Amino acid sequence: MNHAGRNGPEGPTAPADPWFDWLTSRRHGGDPGFEQSVRRTVESYRNRVLDGAQLAEGMTLLDVGAGDGLIAFGAIARVGPSLKVILADISAALLQRAEAVAWQLGVQDSCVFLQGSAERLEAVPEASADVVTTRAVLAYVQDKAAAAREFRRVLKPGGRISLAEPIYRDESLNLARLAEFVDRRPADPSTLDARLFLRWKGAQLPATPADIRASPLTNFTERDLITFFEDAGFGETHLELHIDMRKAVAVPWDTFLATAHHPQVPTVREILARRFTVEERRYFEAQMRPVVEAGQIMNRDMIAYLTAVKPK
Ligand SMILES: C[S@@+](CC[C@H](N)C(=O)[O-])C[C@H]1O[C@@H](n2cnc3c(N)ncnc32)[C@H](O)[C@@H]1O
Repeated sequence: MNHAGRNGPEGPTAPADPWFDWLTSRRHGGDPGFEQSVRRTVESYRNRVLDGAQLAEGMTLLDVGAGDGLIAFGAIARVGPSLKVILADISAALLQRAEAVAWQLGVQDSCVFLQGSAERLEAVPEASADVVTTRAVLAYVQDKAAAAREFRRVLKPGGRISLAEPIYRDESLNLARLAEFVDRRPADPSTLDARLFLRWKGAQLPATPADIRASPLTNFTERDLITFFEDAGFGETHLELHIDMRKAVAVPWDTFLATAHHPQVPTVREILARRFTVEERRYFEAQMRPVVEAGQIMNRDMIAYLTAVKPK
């Protein structure tokens, strides 16, 4: 299967499967060194989800939005082959890739691969899973309340959900405030940096109040997550919001240009090609390249970790 994007006058157009392309290349810009570093970070999120899952031998785990198997294979490594893992995802390409990895790891007999969406897991029978996990998936699901109800349906009484989701809303609200500020000063040359920053960041996250409300990425807070699971009929529920302000890893400029912030957005190179003039691109590079290559960009990661139990 060919997943490469096509080339057009403004650079590559939309890839065939954005989920596959992001996880396998656009997340790390095709740079093996940066890929290792991203891997270490997501494994730390994975470990925390698995701690919350309280898995035991012989259980059935449903991992929703399984991607390339980060959670699933980590769970089997922890518990052993008696764990049965159902890897569900909307992306056929990622399921194929995960299946190939399962064979490489020799854990194929512990795995079932299922194409389906978090809001409608029709192929999963009611009360059939001991644990449901999901990571960085609900942020892309429009109807999160429906997904929470579906997780409850497939769990056995006493079963638990353990999830981790990025919370982007604050970052988007800050962008919207900055946009309002510069829009009030249309002719002020001192706002140039802010305008270019908004053109770059505004291609990665919603940056107007209407877009923030409409996008599944930003239409919820960590408190809404609690409400979705409470309303779906879960009992004991815990949520921890983990906020890290830390410097991004130093990467070569070309790697930075080839990365995309998340699966649904263009790479930095594509953003510059589509939204910047040649002069603006030169200015942006002069300002940003030293910062990127010295690892001086500050990121704020906000991750909500939630566990909830279906009452017996
Ligand atoms: C950011 S990736 C995370 C993958 C994996 N959970 C991990 O932690 O590495 C998002 C995943 O969710 C899947 N996905 C997106 N929307 C979905 C939906 N509505 N239902 C199920 N999976 C979905 C994508 O195909 C992709 O594998």
